[in-house]
Amino acid sequence: TVLVVDFGAQYAQLIARRVREAHVFSEIVPHTITAAEIAERRPSAIILSGGPKSVHVEDAPSIDAGVYELGVPVLGICYGAQLVARDLGGEVSRTDRGEYGRAELTRTGHGVLMADDEPEQLTVWMSHFDTITKAPEGFAVTGSTGATPAAVIEDAERRIFGVQYHPEVVHSQHGQDLLKRFLYDGAGCRPSWTMTSIIEHEVDAVRRQVGDARVICALSGGVDSAVAAALVHKAIGHQLTCVYVDTGLMREGESDQVVETFQRNLQIELQHVRAADRFFERLAGVLDPEEKRKAIGEQFIRIFEEAAGGIEDAKFLVQGTLYPDVIESGTPDAAKIKSHHNVGGLPEDMDFELVEPLRALFKDEVRRVGTELGLPEEIVWRQPFPGPGLGVRIIGEVTPERADLLRKADAIVREEVKRADLERDIWQVFAVLLADVRSVGVMGDERTYGHPVVIRAVTSDDAMTADWARLPYDLLERMSNRIINEVPGINRVAYDVTSKPPGTIEWE
Ligand code: XMP
Repeated sequence: TVLVVDFGAQYAQLIARRVREAHVFSEIVPHTITAAEIAERRPSAIILSGGPKSVHVEDAPSIDAGVYELGVPVLGICYGAQLVARDLGGEVSRTDRGEYGRAELTRTGHGVLMADDEPEQLTVWMSHFDTITKAPEGFAVTGSTGATPAAVIEDAERRIFGVQYHPEVVHSQHGQDLLKRFLYDGAGCRPSWTMTSIIEHEVDAVRRQVGDARVICALSGGVDSAVAAALVHKAIGHQLTCVYVDTGLMREGESDQVVETFQRNLQIELQHVRAADRFFERLAGVLDPEEKRKAIGEQFIRIFEEAAGGIEDAKFLVQGTLYPDVIESGTPDAAKIKSHHNVGGLPEDMDFELVEPLRALFKDEVRRVGTELGLPEEIVWRQPFPGPGLGVRIIGEVTPERADLLRKADAIVREEVKRADLERDIWQVFAVLLADVRSVGVMGDERTYGHPVVIRAVTSDDAMTADWARLPYDLLERMSNRIINEVPGINRVAYDVTSKPPGTIEWE
């Protein structure tokens, strides 16, 4: 394991992914970890991430200086490199101007990071204000830029290294090569973290955890629960029963696809609970978004509990928790914007032990595992879909008729995006029904008085921030035409041009 010490979340995650792309397992730890705690985990290397702009500001985060004494190879990146320099007796100084963006790096020496087969000049990505002005004793300076004389520092004997630039970003030429040299040559790691090894490892772990007990899994149709279920099924076969609750608020064709994939193709035991009536009954007259979310969440739990109660001796519950959820749950949430309901949000008083085979993985790794396990592309590449489903995309009361209207419009939107081959470029694309709004239109010679549909398409990396997607006008036109012609009751289509923030991705 390589431990990536977090001084600023975005950087740490990106570094952890790059290490994994070099087929070495990596985990993120907070910078408050002690040297003793690190030693206990027996890492093969430690990477100190980038972070705040300066080691000189008050409360600048630091790391237990004992880490340098563990004999474990260390690489400091950007802020991490400045910490290495400062902690080991070098000098970090404030400069008049920072260095942001592209910089030309010159190889000035020979070392592990700056190997002889590297070009003498590299374009790299910088983002810092302070700079290392004197390398600590024992360190060779092997790379410089105009503004940063000690841009790459190496102590081959102690196996401690620092780079002022960001090798983890794609704009840094040969950045991944530098990381690999640190991992393979500097730290002696072997590239053994592959899809096959991940699957084998998790299959083993699941078998050991559950023994011959019964296990249940709530399938949502989404990627995470699907891959988790397929993985657990590979491990324990018929000991697993999946429960799929059809809320009546699913997308077109979704329920059939889940049943087809899991029951028929993978031969997984599946309980298909058709509960649409109960959801619509509960939602009658509910208009407030938070109340709606609560109603759907509670109803889901009740129905799932009933189904689970019928599965005898079930002791374990599978959840598709991913690595980013694990690291982020460590930080207390800021203001609550929406109460999220997902299949993971089952009540704590349910008497199950959790099985979380994806806890160590990022989303793209989960997709690769899914593909390797034989799940169809439509499931592996499915866009995120909120737990409350179409319920939070019907503004106003949620009724079966309105859900049907929206489902039809939504299917057209997704079909056209797929036809334009833009599916994987767009984080989410869907339709929203403004059910209590009406506008006047004309079709043929007739006056119409119908509902508007809003098309929402966003690009994003993690749903925390998002931008509205610049869909081609002719694509928007096709969607608009088809929706108005094919979905009775809809006579107007609008496109949402709000980013997040200030908007959210969903409308409720
Ligand atoms: P917002 O609307 O908050 O959504 O910008 C961010 C992402 O979360 C999804 N979303 C949910 N996912 N349960 C979920 O599992 C929920 O209750 C829920 N609400 C929103 C949303 O689709 C987007 O990807």
